[in-house]
Amino acid sequence: MSEIGPGLARQVETYMRGLQGGRADVPFSTAELEAIAREKLSPEALAYIAGGAGREQTMAANLESLERRHIVPRMARDCASRDLSVTLFGKRLPTPFLTCPIGVLSMAHAEADLAVARAASATGVPMIISNQASYPMEQIADCGDGPKWFQLYWGRSDALVASLVKRAEASGCEAIVITLDTTILGWRCRDLDLGHLPFLRGQGIAQYTSDPVFRSMLSEPPEKNPMAAAVMFTQIYSDPSLNWEKLKTIRSHTSLPVLVKGIQHPDDAALAVQHGFDGIIVSNHGGRQVDGAIGSADALHACAERVGRRVPVLFDSGLRSGADAFKALALGADAVCIGRPWVWGLAAKGQAGVEAVLKNFIAELDLTLALSGCASVAEARRAKLS
Ligand code: FNR
Repeated sequence: MSEIGPGLARQVETYMRGLQGGRADVPFSTAELEAIAREKLSPEALAYIAGGAGREQTMAANLESLERRHIVPRMARDCASRDLSVTLFGKRLPTPFLTCPIGVLSMAHAEADLAVARAASATGVPMIISNQASYPMEQIADCGDGPKWFQLYWGRSDALVASLVKRAEASGCEAIVITLDTTILGWRCRDLDLGHLPFLRGQGIAQYTSDPVFRSMLSEPPEKNPMAAAVMFTQIYSDPSLNWEKLKTIRSHTSLPVLVKGIQHPDDAALAVQHGFDGIIVSNHGGRQVDGAIGSADALHACAERVGRRVPVLFDSGLRSGADAFKALALGADAVCIGRPWVWGLAAKGQAGVEAVLKNFIAELDLTLALSGCASVAEARRAKLS
């Protein structure tokens, strides 16, 4: 079916099943999927996943900054076949989608990152494994044969940073993403109200408890004294004194492409390029860090302009559909990362839920390209929004 394109293929598959009385078990609307997931999640999990920083104005601004922009479709431009592929760091990817690194997925589903890795592989979407994953990266990397990247929080121990990066490289990860926007945890009222921080309960710290350097910092193994491991984690996982000079030293630990995530200011985009980073991710962590900050799509165009195609520009924070992805491409993104929507899929239906969400984003982007007069992602990047 692939020659008809992923959009039409998904429609045909769904309507044919409908002819036989079957319905998709995962709703196509992200909002409806979210509603199902909300019913399934504990109050703590829901607060952690759905919540943002402060009054959640930035979380809302992320959606609004995409909703406010409009595609202006062009007609009669021969879009019979579309090329959704993109090339990042010399590797051709079938679509411009990646999965965002998302921590503590065990709160959403027992199979957590393992289910995501399988779903991402099945759809050809690279997975960015989170530093706060619920399983060690080696185990996640073993699930499915799709590309994996590793996201790192640069903590207070350089030896630990080196160890995490080496492990990522040894597990076959193809790029490192350093998240810059979480040198301290944001002010998250929903979690504060519940007095709930998953890491203190030993959730989402598998990269640490499986790490030889981290283990050597403890007087007892984490299996014997999980609380001591959790407390040690909170003391070392981040470093608010991080700066560009320090970040540059990543080069002594790896030869993989290194991207920085959390860029919103064009000057930071320029600094990332100037300091030799291989790519940036324009992101505000889904509005979970600085409340009152601009919507991520409002930051995208200026950052992409400043980078000027010297390195790839990726985007996240607020994507809820394939049409949103089109808008992000038109604003200058080379590729886009999907976040909360597949977490709702994971909570609702495990691996099948994640897979459905990824397939739906791909299908809708394909159809949006066709119907907007773009035969490729490259053409979408030249499309004008109003
Ligand atoms: C995140 N995000 C995140 N980012 C990161 O670099 N490392 C991480 O471990 C996490 N963990 C995490 C947990 C949860 C529950 C959420 C919702 C988000 C941020 C993530 O990578 C991405 O930037 C946002 O999810 C994008 O916003 P939307 O589109 O999901 O609203």
